[in-house]
Amino acid sequence: MNMIPSILLCVLITLTIGVEEIEAARAFFVFGDSLVDNGNNNFLATTARADTYPYGIDSQSHRASGRFSNGLNMPDIISEKIGSEATLPYLNPVLDGERLLVGANFASAGVGILNDTGVQFINIIRIGAQLEYFKQYQQRVSALIGEEGAKRLVNQALVLITLGGNDFVNNYYLVPFSARSREYALPDYVVYIISEYRKILLNLYDLGARRVLVTGTGPLGCVPAELAMQGRNGECGADLQKATNLFNPQLVQLINQLNSEIGGPDKHVFIYANAFAMHLDFVENPQEYGFVTSKIACCGQGAYNGIGLCTPASNLCPNRDVYAFWDAFHPSERANRLIVDKIMTGAAQYMHPINLSTIMALDSRI
Ligand SMILES: *[C@@H]1O[C@H](CO)[C@@H](O)[C@H](O)[C@H]1NC(C)=O
Ligand SMILES: *[C@@H]1O[C@H](CO)[C@@H](O)[C@H](O)[C@H]1NC(C)=O
Repeated sequence: MNMIPSILLCVLITLTIGVEEIEAARAFFVFGDSLVDNGNNNFLATTARADTYPYGIDSQSHRASGRFSNGLNMPDIISEKIGSEATLPYLNPVLDGERLLVGANFASAGVGILNDTGVQFINIIRIGAQLEYFKQYQQRVSALIGEEGAKRLVNQALVLITLGGNDFVNNYYLVPFSARSREYALPDYVVYIISEYRKILLNLYDLGARRVLVTGTGPLGCVPAELAMQGRNGECGADLQKATNLFNPQLVQLINQLNSEIGGPDKHVFIYANAFAMHLDFVENPQEYGFVTSKIACCGQGAYNGIGLCTPASNLCPNRDVYAFWDAFHPSERANRLIVDKIMTGAAQYMHPINLSTIMALDSRI
């Protein structure tokens, strides 16, 4: 070992310093469904995709990237706020070498907490597989900066996980008399998926995650697709609202339990982002937030532009900034910005137990 020429040592030291500089910005990892997928499904044979016009119409490239948005989505804007580059989809081959140190996005449109959620989309990365990829990612980073460095990078990272909506929309309520709805009454189904979510969150913790933003579900019954299908004068669909009202409080309870079991009272490993309250603000008072409507999707067709998919043949609104919903299910970039503002600085009814700006301040002191 003492035979290593000093020139090589110099190169090694320089490389290490270079790596540490990149490491200085906090890594960010994203798990979940279409609300946070940055384009993994582009690399899969699935029907759950956002890879054609007009998706991405307001992005820098004006091209569809696989994000279910007219521009940026929630993780992009969080990256912006914490001073990082946007996370690349883990399946994108460009995500390699030092780029891995920025983090990675493992999310896949269509997935849920349960394995049988989203089966109709055929080939998607279910949450178990997302966690397997996270393991593989850590091995790749270990090869780059060593095992200790990789462990530190993951421990100090910010993590976002968004799951649950599809377990209702694309499973329990997908069709009348769905298999799950024959198996479980709604309250029992919620208890079941929360118990499965517990395993997923503990798995994330075991894999090294120490700051995990967990979003609850938004007002699922109020998205344009549901307004169109339920068709009662623009009132939010009652079944999905009931589901949301059962799911979110139990998710808060789960997070409180997990934090006291694993972290101690002031560690705040899991942080609840109340997406329901964040959405409801502009669903109830669109004008106050600069939207002309929170019922009609910008892109789509039929009632509320809520029927079918957003395609090149759909109606498309001229100004995406004044629509809360981009397509039948997903917020516009501007709505995503309002949501992330609340994640950053929201008070206790939005972020429990603390908001992201407080997390950033706490963690900068370590
Ligand atoms: C879902 O699938 C994964 C991988 O096949 C498996 O490990 C897990 O136990 C399954 N979960 C449920 C609830 O069946
Ligand atoms: C959230 O962030 C703001 C501003 O950064 C702070 O003043 C406020 O107290 C925080 N609220 C909570 C509940 O942590």
